[in-house]
Amino acid sequence: MCGIFGYVGNRKDAGRIVVRGIKSLEYRGYDSWGVARMIDGDIFIEKNVGKIGGVNPESFSELSSIAIAHTRWATHGGVTKENAHPHISCDKKISVVHNGIIENYQELREELKNKGHTFTSETDTEIICHMIAENLKTSKDLPEAVRITCQRFEGRYGFLIINTETNELIAARTGSPLIVGRGEDETFIASDIPAFMEHTKTVNYIDDGEMVITDGKETRFYEINSGKEIDKRNVEITLDIEEAKKGEYEHFMLKEIMDQKDTIARAVNQDEEQIQTIANAIRDAQGTFLSACGTAGKVCMASEYFFSVVAEKHVNFTPASEFPIYHHFLVPESLLIVVSQSGETADVLEAMKVAKSKRAKVLAVVNSEGSTIDREADYTLLINAGPERAVASTKAATGQMAVMLLVAYALADKLNEGRAVLLETASMINDMLNPRYMEHVSGIAENIKEEENVYIIGKSWNYPMALESAIKIQEVSYVHAEGFAGGELKHGPIALIQKGTPCIALIGNDETKMDTLSNTIELKARGAHIIGVAPENNEVFDEWIKVPDAETAQAIVNIIPIQVLAYYLAIKRGKDPDMPRNLAKSVTVK
Ligand code: G6P
Repeated sequence: MCGIFGYVGNRKDAGRIVVRGIKSLEYRGYDSWGVARMIDGDIFIEKNVGKIGGVNPESFSELSSIAIAHTRWATHGGVTKENAHPHISCDKKISVVHNGIIENYQELREELKNKGHTFTSETDTEIICHMIAENLKTSKDLPEAVRITCQRFEGRYGFLIINTETNELIAARTGSPLIVGRGEDETFIASDIPAFMEHTKTVNYIDDGEMVITDGKETRFYEINSGKEIDKRNVEITLDIEEAKKGEYEHFMLKEIMDQKDTIARAVNQDEEQIQTIANAIRDAQGTFLSACGTAGKVCMASEYFFSVVAEKHVNFTPASEFPIYHHFLVPESLLIVVSQSGETADVLEAMKVAKSKRAKVLAVVNSEGSTIDREADYTLLINAGPERAVASTKAATGQMAVMLLVAYALADKLNEGRAVLLETASMINDMLNPRYMEHVSGIAENIKEEENVYIIGKSWNYPMALESAIKIQEVSYVHAEGFAGGELKHGPIALIQKGTPCIALIGNDETKMDTLSNTIELKARGAHIIGVAPENNEVFDEWIKVPDAETAQAIVNIIPIQVLAYYLAIKRGKDPDMPRNLAKSVTVK
């Protein structure tokens, strides 16, 4: 949530550089944008509500060698120009952009007001620049004032400041991601690598409780509490710039759906020894917990079924925001498996913290290499799906399911069989996503685009996929959608069905097929318009979306046409599927 990006170096178009770069962090929030540049010793701020996407970088080309930029997902204070970052101290000497929430901001704000500072926004962020200015009065230098200020904060922050006295960019982090990009005589600091990927692939990861001071040439890292200087390793990243672009596609969501032609095979390409080590850790653990948020949470729910059906192993999913309540059940022999695309989700990090406080081990299944979750876990399995930019998760979700299914097979000592099932699935998905198929699903979206409600049912691993289908439809098309376990229908939800209500049934060729068909018939008897997603057609379906028979990987193939349906529903209803209202891709606040 919120993207921040700063530049300092030998180039003279810092404004243009940060505007270009921050556009690639728009997935982190797009309520408002802002830029602060130092020009001839003064800080100039431009900001506004709306998306940075439409802002022309060329209008920021004046001479400046240091600048910071922000794209906002509003937490404290509404979506207004005043609340947009950057914020600036009363003396106009220190400007800040911030990602996170300073939880004790009310108390600090009162304290600063009493000392004569004037606030111009409702944000928690604004206290950062005022407080640094206040502490500067009694500190030996600006870095010390920043350190003392940080020590007062409760909550999470990643922030960048510029000041009029030195040509230095200063950053500090606790809880929100920050990565330094090292160029030649220039330094970039951002919430995520795509912001500076076109300039450098050499990075330093900043950890919690650390700060950075850089003038572009020289970059120094310190512990916030002790002030001790620390050494950082340069890491070369392997991200492919082209993969982070839309290419021939109109939207990232469509591109990422189509990427699934090869991301399943990429996810399956795991180191055998590593998978086996993890399978052994699960076997030996006294209780394995799964935890994640949103779509990744639905992946975990599907994985409960993978582990049960394939490996006869009971594992227990809890949404990450609820996981801390379970701390009573954690012992040093417990294992927590977390699943995350971004590797930065605050609730997941919190769940890991709780597990670690009980000395339990953590396995992470993530997409973003080098992310905080990747670095803090005891074991990591990367899904290698490439950057996912659309807010609605598609290829990351199916890649995560592929890895979890593979682990379940390894746990059952059938790793080769698992790999074969998944590679066969990958090739069937490649065939499935052809232009005729897309047209067929787009036609179904056309038929239901005016509907206000859609219901989805499934059983076994198709039940979490029904829940995930509802998320996909809700978040991009704003149609009210709900998923149910088919067997639960008659205990309430069936009262919602009227003549013509679109209902989607997710079916596989497995032991649950007949039950789900019976539930579908119950819906049809109440007048529902049935869209069947299944390997075989059935007379109860009004419309049929054919999917391959993928055995234990059916959840992976069944969700893909729903992603396509959600995409076309968004387009036909005139919505932007890549940047749905009120949402952000990387949720770094609790
Ligand atoms: C947000 C995204 C979802 C994602 C969830 C968890 O809500 O919009 O697509 O599933 O966060 O994010 P993570 O990065 O941990 O998978």
